[in-house]
Amino acid sequence: MTENVQLRPVQESDLAIFFEQQRDPVANRMAAFPARDQDTFTAHWSKIMQDKSVILRTILFDGLVAGNLVSFVLSKEREVGYWLGRDYWGKGIATRALRDFLKQVQERPLFAHVAQHNTASFRVLEKCGFHLQGEEKNFSVVEGQPVAGFVLKLDH
Ligand SMILES: CC(C)(COP(=O)(O)OP(=O)(O)OC[C@H]1O[C@@H](n2cnc3c(N)ncnc32)[C@H](O)[C@@H]1OP(=O)(O)O)[C@@H](O)C(=O)NCCC(=O)NCCS
Repeated sequence: MTENVQLRPVQESDLAIFFEQQRDPVANRMAAFPARDQDTFTAHWSKIMQDKSVILRTILFDGLVAGNLVSFVLSKEREVGYWLGRDYWGKGIATRALRDFLKQVQERPLFAHVAQHNTASFRVLEKCGFHLQGEEKNFSVVEGQPVAGFVLKLDH
């Protein structure tokens, strides 16, 4: 099934789909990451699409836009992140997409930050060779409450 997963550069026409995917309340709870409103989303994506240090890919599954992958530098560390629409969860797509992305993003080490309750994302990273590097008490704040996170690292 995962042979139907492909990565390609992000196109403007993908953004409306990403917008809907990033405002799914179930996904927001899973990632402990709030939805962006349309203006904030548009401003954020125009900024990252112009930033040459940011690497962006659209994930296609059977030719349809399943989600996206990002890699950016934060506090001198290169990070990866990803987000799939809920229709595409549980099919091995994120694992396959991240594996392919890691061939395209060659800088090491790479880091990822995940909410501690986000078992799916933790497994995706583990299956792609990341290991637990540490914990962070304040990964995010949801409804006024701090959410703890894990930091994972890929050395090679
Ligand atoms: C996290 C996310 C990317 C996982 O994508 P996916 O394509 O469903 O992941 P995969 O199918 O490759 O599965 C990877 C592993 O997670 C497990 N998994 C998938 N969904 C799960 C869930 N809801 N709860 C627990 N484990 C789950 C799978 O069983 C698999 O582990 P296994 O091989 O040990 O069985 C996707 O759910 C998503 O986009 N969520 C919202 C945004 C988000 O959390 N982004 C990451 C922020 S750090």
